Amino acid sequence: MGVEIRSLEPSEARLRLENDESLKMLIVNGYDFRPETLEDENDLLAVAMEEYDVGDERARVFFAIEAGIIIGSLVLTRWEDSKNDKRGKPFFQKLRIKSPDIAGRLSEIENPVIDVRGVVVGESHRGKGVGRALFDQAIADLNPGIIGGQTRNPDTVSLRSKFPERRTFFGGREVTWGCSVPNTRVHLPILEAYAHAGGLKLLAGLVHLGAEDFEPSKPDMSNYPPIVRQAFMPLNLMQTQAGRSKTVMAHLLSVRAELFED
Ligand SMILES: CC(C)(COP(=O)(O)OP(=O)(O)OC[C@H]1O[C@@H](n2cnc3c(N)ncnc32)[C@H](O)[C@@H]1OP(=O)(O)O)[C@@H](O)C(=O)NCCC(=O)NCCS
Repeated sequence: MGVEIRSLEPSEARLRLENDESLKMLIVNGYDFRPETLEDENDLLAVAMEEYDVGDERARVFFAIEAGIIIGSLVLTRWEDSKNDKRGKPFFQKLRIKSPDIAGRLSEIENPVIDVRGVVVGESHRGKGVGRALFDQAIADLNPGIIGGQTRNPDTVSLRSKFPERRTFFGGREVTWGCSVPNTRVHLPILEAYAHAGGLKLLAGLVHLGAEDFEPSKPDMSNYPPIVRQAFMPLNLMQTQAGRSKTVMAHLLSVRAELFED
């Protein structure tokens, strides 16, 4: 493949972005961003910059680089059980109430929760293992207890369903590759704590409403494995009800399997 994965700090990524038109377009084109939501239509750099607008002490960026060009980007934010962490504090508070066992095991892990702030691979490079390589490197470096995030992208869900030694949940369903009981409730304490940390209300089907500057299109699910297709049903149903003005998302949580063991 000839792809190198490089780990760097968000401030370094911002510097690179200022001078790299192709990185800017990778970010802007990567998500279904609606340019009409911009106050200044030309200010795409500011949009792309948001991806890396996070302190070095709590985030890490991974670039996939081929022949000197950045073809993939992953941004991860660390949540801590500390009063200064506006996500980590409510997450752990809620988790201790919902499941003291899981909270206790999680507290012994060096990087308990890592939130995926963004992951994008250039369109012409998708489906070739670049996304997997980015996550492989991140997991090797950080080995988080929980890799969190929210999405409405079936490719992301497919990718994360195959993380080794982790169980992955999309909304209310388990999507771990080969899992036999996808309607498990084992992850609900983590999901509820995660939603609480983000100030998000879980709706029927355990999905939620996301930011409004992303296209609320319903993905074509025909080429995905049944476990992913089924997991998207509540989201697509809720999107039909919500119409085009709201974007429905679901949390995507990849949890180290041992956190569920007695
Ligand atoms: C999501 C994304 C980062 C995945 O990156 P990628 O480089 O295409 O993914 P990979 O090639 O590493 O795929 C890894 C696994 O995901 C699965 N996968 C990826 N795309 C898939 C697809 N279209 N259908 C089914 N499975 C798919 C495959 O099972 C693959 O596993 P395998 O190697 O065992 O076959 C990329 O599609 C993307 O940038 N999308 C747009 C940006 C976006 O929406 N990001 C998510 C925001 S939350």
